[in-house]
Amino acid sequence: MSNLELTGAEPACADDGVWLSCIECGEAFAPFDDVRYTCDDCDGLLEARYSDLPTWEDFDNDQWSVWRYSAALPFEEGVSLPEGGTPLHEVPRLEDDLGLDRLRVKHEGMNPTGSFKDRGMTVGVRVAKEIGVGRLACASTGNTSAALAAYGARGGMETLVLLPAGKVAAGKVAQASLHGARILEVDGNFDTCLDIVQDLAGMGEAYLLNSLNPFRLEGQKTIGLEILEQFRDEEGGYPDRIALPVGNAGNTAALYKCFRELVQAGAMDESEMPKLTGVQAEHSAPMVEAIEKGWDHIERWDDVETRATAIRIGNPVNAPKALPGIRATGGTAVAVSDEEITEAQRDLAGEGVGVEPASAASIAGVRKLRHEGEIDADERVVCLTTGHLLKDPDAAAEAGEDPEPVPGDTEGVLDHLGS
Ligand code: F0G
Repeated sequence: MSNLELTGAEPACADDGVWLSCIECGEAFAPFDDVRYTCDDCDGLLEARYSDLPTWEDFDNDQWSVWRYSAALPFEEGVSLPEGGTPLHEVPRLEDDLGLDRLRVKHEGMNPTGSFKDRGMTVGVRVAKEIGVGRLACASTGNTSAALAAYGARGGMETLVLLPAGKVAAGKVAQASLHGARILEVDGNFDTCLDIVQDLAGMGEAYLLNSLNPFRLEGQKTIGLEILEQFRDEEGGYPDRIALPVGNAGNTAALYKCFRELVQAGAMDESEMPKLTGVQAEHSAPMVEAIEKGWDHIERWDDVETRATAIRIGNPVNAPKALPGIRATGGTAVAVSDEEITEAQRDLAGEGVGVEPASAASIAGVRKLRHEGEIDADERVVCLTTGHLLKDPDAAAEAGEDPEPVPGDTEGVLDHLGS
């Protein structure tokens, strides 16, 4: 079982109060001396650790972005576009429809490249510069590649992305392409792409910026900090539950780390941690399987499929960090169908909030758990919507109504409208 305790003295290898710790064997490593993604000794996942953990007062600045929270990050600033500071929408009709006292939507699609990945990249690319690597690389269902390409371009670095051929939404490929990434379309799914890029990174061909890289998750932690601050300021307390789509389980892991650090710093009580509620597509749901069966690991699904291509993932690499988070917060994981995802995408669009299919999974999951009685009416829920509608224009057009052809004169248009 992984050890996610944040207690322990600063090791000699720490650099300015920051080090990396293996969540399996506890071995500590210098953070920026060498390129390292997993533990040298046991191959366990690494986590960034700090000798000083900040409380809310330490975020006393006027910035409304990821870097507002620099006291919780390894650097004061990063390669920035800038990112974060996204809206926490009210959705009154959806709230009524789901029968919830309070429902808010944290729309991460409002980041510079249209997804939450920007929060991880601003930190990850900064670390890459610190370490002094050449080429940056990732495997991706699309959004990571778009963010990597943009932040790599911003930082003046070469980027390489591996995408599952034919399974990446058009907007994302276009972004990676225009921002200058070299794009390899792999004959295989996302998990195959990640296997290959991990091999390439291990051979020194590139610096890996998937969420296996612990510094990516440091940036994504700020989603949690923002939700808690916004919700507390506007609603007078923390939310009871945060529901989010799960692919590689990076965000789930990052949110749990955010909560653990706040608890350790004395800024939040353990009992106040929002229940982490992961949502997967039913044919790509190894995390749901692990939660339902009480496993402390996931079993890889080789055949995965869903319309929500962003979360078409069968081997969530951050499961050892995310499964304990779901359990420790009293949360759960649930699978939804593609039809339920499309319905939720339409519901959000009806509130003016445009999201890509994977994002809508969070709403679909909450709807299902309300029906099943797992979520009570008096719970205060935040749904995370992870990517913008325009990421996947084909899915949006399919979910919406078709345009109606009309003649090119007013009379003809009036006739059509009247019919
Ligand atoms: N939502 C969207 C829109 C995503 O792009 C992803 C992941 C997720 C949810 C899942 O987040 O991995 O932290 O559980 N996309 C990755 C990519 C895999 O390559 O863009 P997670």
